[in-house]
Amino acid sequence: MVEKNVKQIITRLTSCLHNHNHLYYVMDEPEISDHEYDNLFNELLELEKKYPEYQVDSSPTQNVGAKPSSAFRSIEHTLPMLSLSNVFNREELENFDRRAHEKLNLPLEQSIHYACELKFDGTAVSIVYEDGILVRAATRGDGKKGEDVTHNIRTIKSIPLELTGKNHPSYLEVRGEVYMPLSGFSDFNKNAEINDERVFVNPRNAAAGSLRQLDPNYTKKRPLDIFFYGVGIVKGIVLPTKHSDILSLLSGWGLKICKENKLVNGVDGCMNFYNQMVKKRHTFDYDIDGLVYKIDQISHQDKLGFVSRAPRWAIAHKFPADEKTTVIESIDFQVGRTGAITPVAKVKPAFVGGVTISNITLHNMDELQRKDVRVGDTVSVRRAGDVIPELVKVIRSKRPSGTSEVMMLKLCPECNSKVVRITGEAVFRCSGGYNCRAQRIEYLKHFVSRKAMDVDGFGVKLIEQLVNSERLLTPDQIYSLNKEELCSLDRVATKTAENLIHAISNSKNTTLDKFIFSLGIREVGQTTAEVLADYYKDLDILMLASEENLQEVPEVGPIVAKNIVVFFENDHNKSIVKNLISCGIKWTSSMTLEGVEKIFEGKTIVITGSFSALSREQLKAKIRNLGGKVTGSVSKKTDFLLSGQDPGSKNQKALDLNVKIIYEREFFELFEAVI
Ligand code: IVH
Repeated sequence: MVEKNVKQIITRLTSCLHNHNHLYYVMDEPEISDHEYDNLFNELLELEKKYPEYQVDSSPTQNVGAKPSSAFRSIEHTLPMLSLSNVFNREELENFDRRAHEKLNLPLEQSIHYACELKFDGTAVSIVYEDGILVRAATRGDGKKGEDVTHNIRTIKSIPLELTGKNHPSYLEVRGEVYMPLSGFSDFNKNAEINDERVFVNPRNAAAGSLRQLDPNYTKKRPLDIFFYGVGIVKGIVLPTKHSDILSLLSGWGLKICKENKLVNGVDGCMNFYNQMVKKRHTFDYDIDGLVYKIDQISHQDKLGFVSRAPRWAIAHKFPADEKTTVIESIDFQVGRTGAITPVAKVKPAFVGGVTISNITLHNMDELQRKDVRVGDTVSVRRAGDVIPELVKVIRSKRPSGTSEVMMLKLCPECNSKVVRITGEAVFRCSGGYNCRAQRIEYLKHFVSRKAMDVDGFGVKLIEQLVNSERLLTPDQIYSLNKEELCSLDRVATKTAENLIHAISNSKNTTLDKFIFSLGIREVGQTTAEVLADYYKDLDILMLASEENLQEVPEVGPIVAKNIVVFFENDHNKSIVKNLISCGIKWTSSMTLEGVEKIFEGKTIVITGSFSALSREQLKAKIRNLGGKVTGSVSKKTDFLLSGQDPGSKNQKALDLNVKIIYEREFFELFEAVI
């Protein structure tokens, strides 16, 4: 290799790795697989070893990860948080073991004791306890400085805020990996998809992204967990002399240690552990990307020390990535409930990680263009977190000639409405709204789902038939379906129809939060619906709430507030809500208003005119709930006249008799003040 070229290659690799570090550690959006990263990294490492004169101080081989994001306070790691070197097979492990023997002056026959652990695929944290109390937590960041995530770490249930047991050190820094369990990840993404929120590509990004939320209330809702695997600085106690004993001590203080950890002898012991874990890893509810073998004896660890970024006393044994190559047969566009149009790659079926993959979501056009995926391309695929099919990369050298870039459609594939993209949003949407068949089907699926109106047995096939025959245009029409109509549908027998009618009727008794959720307001998921129901206790008040007022609700930010206001300002939506209520949908929480001050106790109230927000019946119900009595005509005994638009003669009568008149706005203000 010509010297000048070497320098250029090192510079290029350096900047490329810096960029990928930033994407991985700061943005939580890696563009390449770990495997590809390792290859680039090793390439640079090799070159720097051969040509040390070209190695720069800021080389990615000299530190770990990228600079912490400026949104969080930065915390310095007094003892740097380092990385691990990798081996991929027995031979490489034997080399590691031999080097350790040499440095420790141990004869090869004397096998080293290794503490074998899983290599959790999450995000590393350092947590400090002072006299047993959690005081600080930081991410790894660039290994020297991390981000202060104390507020978020405190929300993770498996992390004790106070240590249990006795004899806590005055200062204890523990290190571990925060991860999102696979079950939690899958639920989280399903929910996010339903609510049209951001989905995470894999559990690792989900964990890292959740830890870096500015508002701990968001982190609290994420199913995060932790495994501790070591200590940093410890003061005021003499630690055991073996790594495995240190972990047992931590466990005694209530810090979660993985039960799979095992102490073994030499390379044979490590390989046995590896073979066992390869078989067992798919039964874990968390992702691991390999194993870590650590020399158990702390005095040996101290003697071996570190090389640039990694200890010489520990090694990661990585699993081969289960990636397969396949060919893209077509790229289709799917329309979601809120009109979001998602490109989906149909691939030649490939067997990966125990299942056959044939559809892979490409998330959005930015992602598709970034990866430059084309029909006919050979691609490598894997299952992110062993769950979700993911397109890792396009193998450009295998691209057939004559392929062309994939463009977003101009018209919705379902309804031919214009496709639009709101500035600043990654997604394109069909502008057809409820007129789009696909959106209508998706919306109705959401409406009847268990967490919404819970219409048992009302499946997709049924919805599709009813939408196709235009029998179901709006969700309230579900409540006018009769047995005969249902029996005339494909695969609906009399008994099924009877059950469905029963389920439809049962679903009318619901709760306010489920009803709000069922409306499918953009970004109002189940939790937000619960919070809204809890805060407003009344649908009508929610429907009238302003953006400012909504933002006072815990967890409702400006975007959600706007979505809610826009939704309830829309006449079509308002009439759907009204119709649903006239169909007999009712809920327990709002109408009884338990614990609310009865501001109209003993008062007689008359109503006149029409009201924009509610029907007469709803108004009457509210007044009664607040202790008032509604009568038909104004007399001296009337305490208030509630006056809407175009009031009748009752208004004049109230004026004549000096009866206090309350207008709609005022009424709701009064109402709002007590709930
Ligand atoms: S020990 C100096 N043990 O892997 C020792 N790390 O590549 C370094 N990791 O930043 C850490 N499971 O995020 C250790 N059982 C385990 C681990 C583990 C996962 C992660 C950790 C670390 C990275 C190093």
